[in-house]
Amino acid sequence: MLRKKGSVILCGAFLFITWNAILVLLLWGRTPAGQSGQPGREHRELAAEPTSSDVVGDVLRMADTFEAELERQKDILLEIQKHQSLWDPKAQAKGKLVTAPRQPVIPILVIACNRVTVKRCLDKLLQLRPSAELHPIIVSQDCGHAETAEVIRSYGDQVTHLKQPDLSNVAVHPGHKKFQGYYKISRHYRWALNQVFKTLGHSSVVIVEDDLEVAPDFFEYFGGLLPVLKSDPSLWCVSAWNDNGREGYVDPSKSNLLYRTDFFPGLGWMLLKDVWEELEPKWPAAFWDDWMRQPEQRRDRSCIRPEISRTLTFGRQGVSLGQFFDKYLRYIKLNAEFVPFTKIDLSYLKEETYREEFMKEAYSAPVVTYEEVKQGQLKGQGPFRLQYSTKDSFKMLAKNLGIMDDLKSGVPRTGYRGVVSFISRGRRIYLAPPPGWTKYDASWS
Ligand code: UD1
Ligand code: MN
Repeated sequence: MLRKKGSVILCGAFLFITWNAILVLLLWGRTPAGQSGQPGREHRELAAEPTSSDVVGDVLRMADTFEAELERQKDILLEIQKHQSLWDPKAQAKGKLVTAPRQPVIPILVIACNRVTVKRCLDKLLQLRPSAELHPIIVSQDCGHAETAEVIRSYGDQVTHLKQPDLSNVAVHPGHKKFQGYYKISRHYRWALNQVFKTLGHSSVVIVEDDLEVAPDFFEYFGGLLPVLKSDPSLWCVSAWNDNGREGYVDPSKSNLLYRTDFFPGLGWMLLKDVWEELEPKWPAAFWDDWMRQPEQRRDRSCIRPEISRTLTFGRQGVSLGQFFDKYLRYIKLNAEFVPFTKIDLSYLKEETYREEFMKEAYSAPVVTYEEVKQGQLKGQGPFRLQYSTKDSFKMLAKNLGIMDDLKSGVPRTGYRGVVSFISRGRRIYLAPPPGWTKYDASWS
């Protein structure tokens, strides 16, 4: 089809040139008659016998005219060629390759301090990174620890090594001395994020702490979710982490499944420049993650989180002294299957669509009792709904079922409109408030 079109155009162009050549010949022949204004002489002129010097001059003039005409034809053909993309999709594609916007750059910010095990984090990132141009790795180091600095330095220009300059203790009131670490982390975050957005001028970032290891599709996950985050003001982050992502609590066949959550998960998360500009002026002196979970900061926005985590934490020895590490964190299952997130349809995550579909799914599930779940007496494949109506009933159910029972500013971990989705004994359970939920109660903690 295309070929046919092409040859028709070529034939047309050839006929056009030939026709013009004939016209030129005829016109050239007519010129003296035309100029003399005596049409009656035409026949005679053509019939007249030319002299030999006349013939040479005529041929030269004819050649000149031809040359000029060919030049004109060339221009016309070039003009046609320029507009080829209007009818030839192949040329269209070629044109697009040249003019298509470049893929967005998503830098990875690694927050480091005094653990040489940052190597495990960096090795994985470098091993999996699809492109150094699209994913510059910026390691920001606090704490001035020489041995850790040496490890980071050993990566050469594969990473950018920044050093947080203020290593002084943060002045805190006496009761908070034991929280010095949290103050330093917060100060470091503010400085490092300002470097990324203000000094280096990036428009997005994925923040990774030095005790996180990333999954094979980590870059693909954030690459696929960037447009989702950018286009939806009801979202303010994309996280790689499922707080209840322990083996047995997630559906291993659903590594492509994503959720919206009202709980800020952190632990490998993407942030956009405009949200940073909103948070930076009021950035807290300590406990930045719980501060993010307060209603004044969150402002009803959600994050995207996966069914199966794209990060794993190996940092038992941390500032929070392994508070949750041995109980929960160390068991979080790291996704192993590569999901092509940049190529699959993610429109189900759009706010209204998601709310409608997720709520329908959770609230059309039959209500069951804790005993039925615990004793494996559920009939059918599920999903099932387990109801809570007070803070205490939530905590009791969560603890007994093995999911995280803490709430921050009234929001349960992984919760979306109060609903926590997880697997128990092979069945999907929605731990949910009574129908008609309207808002979180920040006094639940
Ligand atoms: C916990 C959170 C962490 C959060 C922190 C602050 C988990 C598993 N971890 O930290 O996401 O950021 O609370 O509320 O929930 N660091 C510095 N300077 C310091 C000390 C630490 O920059 O003086 C860096 C570390 O390199 C690390 C991060 O801060 O990247 C968190 O430190 P870590 O020791 O791992 O504390 P967690 O208890 O995990
Ligand atoms: Mn940690």
